[in-house]
Amino acid sequence: MNLLIIGPQGCGKGTQAKRLSLKYGIPHISTGDIFRENIKQKTELGKLAEDIINQGKLVPDDITFGIIKKRLLEDDCKNGYILDGFPRNIEQADMLEGFLETEFAINISTKDKEAINRIAGRRTCINGHVYHVTLNPPKKMGVCDVCQKPLFQRDDDKPETIRKRLKVYHEKTKPLIEHYTNLGKIIDINGEQPIEKVFKDIVKKLER
Ligand code: AP5
Ligand code: MG
Repeated sequence: MNLLIIGPQGCGKGTQAKRLSLKYGIPHISTGDIFRENIKQKTELGKLAEDIINQGKLVPDDITFGIIKKRLLEDDCKNGYILDGFPRNIEQADMLEGFLETEFAINISTKDKEAINRIAGRRTCINGHVYHVTLNPPKKMGVCDVCQKPLFQRDDDKPETIRKRLKVYHEKTKPLIEHYTNLGKIIDINGEQPIEKVFKDIVKKLER
């Protein structure tokens, strides 16, 4: 099962990818999480990516694809994987398709207004577990249910950065919907439903 999830900021890529990873026993690979881990560890990649991410721009394609390629060659990807946040433009999609074939591209749609609302209330722990203060709260406010680490707001979740990230989505990432539709690989999902319903819709379409 070689899957990828596309959709605007806050549509639930990370939320759904985590659930799919558990259900199908395939790794969840998020380029955003990889960059954030590198920023935390202060690696060369992290130093390079930090400013770009905080400006809401895309990290250069060759660097991002290099990371994905290396990750997809690891053993745990042999039976499939779920990519979250890659590809993000046509160039990255071409790089990926030249390397491994995608089975389904899951397109989760939400309107910008919903995206902004969700991102404003998002809280995450250092290990990338994601919550929302009202829509998907942790059991104990400010603490991750899974690893008990404190929850915080991402640096790129400021209102002005969100607007820039959404602009990049509309200009660069949205054309991927047509791209994967033309390849007969798209699965369209209404992202403006409760988390469990979105998940059920994805599974139903994957197993059809
Ligand atoms: P990345 O980390 O991928 O951010 P993003 O695409 O902006 O997406 P988000 O993580 O903000 O949203 P999501 O769809 O995962 O939503 P989530 O599940 O958290 O990338 C960050 C940056 O890294 C980029 O801007 C770029 O600079 C760089 N980058 C990454 N990949 C790159 C690439 N390929 N090329 C170049 N640069 C790259 O959910 C959001 C909130 O809503 C949460 O609070 C959640 O609890 C809640 N929620 C989710 N689903 C629902 C629902 N159905 N109902 C109610 N609430 C919900
Ligand atoms: Mg995410």
